[in-house]
Amino acid sequence: MSLYITTPIYYVNAQPHLGHAYTTIVADTYSRFRRLCKEDVRFQTGTDEHGDKIAEAAAAAGIPPKEYADRISRLFQEAWPLLNIEPDTFIRTTDENHIRTVQAILQKVYDQGDIYLGSYSGLYCRGCERFLTEKELVNGKCPDHQAPPQPISESNYFFRMSRYQEWLIDHIKKNPEFITPEGYKNEVLSFLSEPLEDLCISRPKSRLDWGIPLPFDADFVTYVWFDALTNYISALGYPNREGDFGKFWPCDVHVIGKDILRFHTVYWPTFLMAAGIPLPEKVFAHGWWTVEGQKMSKSLANVVEPNMLIDKYGVDAIRYFLLREVPFGLDGDFSHSALIHRINSDLANDLGNLVSRSTAMLNKYFKGVLPTPLKESDIDTALKEKFIQQTGVVDEQMEALAFNKALQSIWELVSAANKYIDDSAPWALAKDEAQRERLGTVMYNLLEAVRLIGLLVTPFMPDTGVKICNILGIDSADRQLDEHDSWGLLQPGSSIEKAAPLFPRIEME
Ligand code: MSP
Repeated sequence: MSLYITTPIYYVNAQPHLGHAYTTIVADTYSRFRRLCKEDVRFQTGTDEHGDKIAEAAAAAGIPPKEYADRISRLFQEAWPLLNIEPDTFIRTTDENHIRTVQAILQKVYDQGDIYLGSYSGLYCRGCERFLTEKELVNGKCPDHQAPPQPISESNYFFRMSRYQEWLIDHIKKNPEFITPEGYKNEVLSFLSEPLEDLCISRPKSRLDWGIPLPFDADFVTYVWFDALTNYISALGYPNREGDFGKFWPCDVHVIGKDILRFHTVYWPTFLMAAGIPLPEKVFAHGWWTVEGQKMSKSLANVVEPNMLIDKYGVDAIRYFLLREVPFGLDGDFSHSALIHRINSDLANDLGNLVSRSTAMLNKYFKGVLPTPLKESDIDTALKEKFIQQTGVVDEQMEALAFNKALQSIWELVSAANKYIDDSAPWALAKDEAQRERLGTVMYNLLEAVRLIGLLVTPFMPDTGVKICNILGIDSADRQLDEHDSWGLLQPGSSIEKAAPLFPRIEME
């Protein structure tokens, strides 16, 4: 089976921060999980490099826009590997193939009469890069950018979006998972209960020339959102409908922040419809992170840069925290104390201790050589069944992108394994030679539990997963989750080292 997941492409007017990292970690974790289950995954991210905002930032930096975009795009490309994020494709909207695709779609939609020249007077917000309606203003200002929009009057090209309104409403109603979580679906349906206006999809070159020229009128460039949204298919080679496009489109899920919901659930599906391209299966909107209770902003100087966090806490702890702390879809607050709490309790205490205790006992009682499990007792069966059943639950939760629930389920397994140690008391068995066989079975089951936990945490915490698999001596070919036969794959007789602590405790400052 093939699967395609995307993040938004990030504006190159700001350096990568926690919010960007979050969306990208989410998509990375999902794609790693699916790869672990042997699926053919395509994960795409990239940078959004045209438009007003970028032209302005480049002018402020005193360099040409392309040079500026190269510089900031590189920061994103360099940031992801440090967070163990491994996209298959990193698209830039200044890539030649992307530009060709945007122009091909525009030409097609124009030729069929869905794009026309009109004149427009309206209130334009540079931050949003779109015209706002009077109704959207709060005290005369754009509520997102806290600035009054500029009155602008000009000739422009329009996309007949209104034509697709009824069809879009119908699609959303018939496909209840198309916009997830449900609250966002209702928000979009409520927006669509008012007449949809046609969308201005050009900017005169006289006002903005940093964009993709319209193929049918060289005096205009393409509206940046039309350009940006097309990234999801340009890197798949569209308009060639064979190859990657044939294989991966329709996209399984576009992961986005709630602020760009309308672009993805109204503009994008209607563009696709007009171009005769099937719609993505799902758009999943997540919430926003605040930092220590406040909105992240340059003026508050509280923008959290991933690099700083990595140096202080390590990549895996950050990935774990972001995915565990809030239900995916809701807003969350990042605080150092909450992060340290999670590291100490979930990672150092629960998971770290499990791995150290079990490998230490195996080394103490069996010189690190894994015994063959023999007679199965009730608590062994219960442990084994719990693991088999819970692996299926994690799979379903991942399918629903319920990352925090999936982690909770995995941690139930960590607790079950820790409890298995307490209940079977290997230290007591070790004192009695007659219990040697039983001790061997207990140690096998315990290490097998660690193996499955190691595999299950890998998509969330790749380094930790690799460390656990290395300690257990699992071949890279076997680092996969198998629905069948998911218990008992460790080889008796294999050598297992005593693990160094995985997560040192962190003292509160
Ligand atoms: N370039 C557009 C997206 C085009 S997609 C075809 C854009 N870029 S952005 O850089 O401004 O934002 C990208 C994503 O980062 C958005 O999904 C946004 O929600 C997310 N975040 C930015 N700040 C955030 C937080 N503080 N918290 C969580 N995510 C946030 O929009």
